[in-house]
Amino acid sequence: MAAIGPAGAIVYLNGEWVPLSEARISVLDRGFIFGDGIYEVVPAFASRLFRLDQHLRRLDNSLAAVRMTNPLTPARWHAVLNALLERNGGGDQSVYLQITRGVAKRDHVLPEPVPPTVFAMSSPAVRQSRQPVTAIVCEDIRWKWCQIKSIALLPNVLMRLQAQEHGAYEALLIRDGCLTEGAASNVFIVKDGVVKTPPHSENLLPGITRDLIVELLAEHRIPHAEAAVSEAELRAADEIWLTSSVREVVPVVKLDDHPVGAGVPGPVWERVVMIYEQFRNAEVARAKAGAAA
Ligand code: PDD
Repeated sequence: MAAIGPAGAIVYLNGEWVPLSEARISVLDRGFIFGDGIYEVVPAFASRLFRLDQHLRRLDNSLAAVRMTNPLTPARWHAVLNALLERNGGGDQSVYLQITRGVAKRDHVLPEPVPPTVFAMSSPAVRQSRQPVTAIVCEDIRWKWCQIKSIALLPNVLMRLQAQEHGAYEALLIRDGCLTEGAASNVFIVKDGVVKTPPHSENLLPGITRDLIVELLAEHRIPHAEAAVSEAELRAADEIWLTSSVREVVPVVKLDDHPVGAGVPGPVWERVVMIYEQFRNAEVARAKAGAAA
């Protein structure tokens, strides 16, 4: 079998460190059978996990929403994920963690709880946030609890596939005439200098990058609103950005074959991505100084 993932990668599985190529779970794992689990993706810059506490809070919220308890304390997660980074060479990485409801005879409802499956892996991150992308608009075909970071991503996979078939990177999702988010990102628009992003609700994931950008917009007094964005507003936007932990803040320059604004990354994005990068670099420097002290 061809190697999947970086050669020599070490993963964390149920309390043990194993080579990725040797990590095994049961075919009865409820993650495999039902998509019954929760995940997070945490970026690391220069060997420092970025916004880890925020990711762990969202993990707790997702687990509580599906009636699971977090098998690890925050301190243990810090230790495990930092060890994972170190074992995989540090630097810029993307850490993936997943908790499923465990292994049991297939039945929708568990007769009694079983130990959860806990998994974490890390791979080198390719930073490409300044690279503009294209997008399509498509119907949001997902369920009603999109605030939960569920591993059941079939609708997201299909919508990304639809984007790919149109030669685009991301699918921007419309529910009841309004923008929710991207298939794997949150979305911001700019019109006449005002930044807008849909508010937190069950229609979208409360993105860690999204929330940070909203904080930075407020701090720098850039006009902005967390408010509903209609499909018409989306299509008439001067700028569109995607945010995610993996891609950071990405400009969309083409939507459904039409240029967004002038068809190049806009001036508000230029300013905000600079503010974001300064904040991120300062946080990483602070974390390094804290560790050295
Ligand atoms: N996805 N919305 C959806 C549906 C997402 O899947 C993601 C991230 C985001 C952005 O959230 P954050 O800023 O916390 O990464 C929004 C991850 C990266 C993934 O599935 O790989």
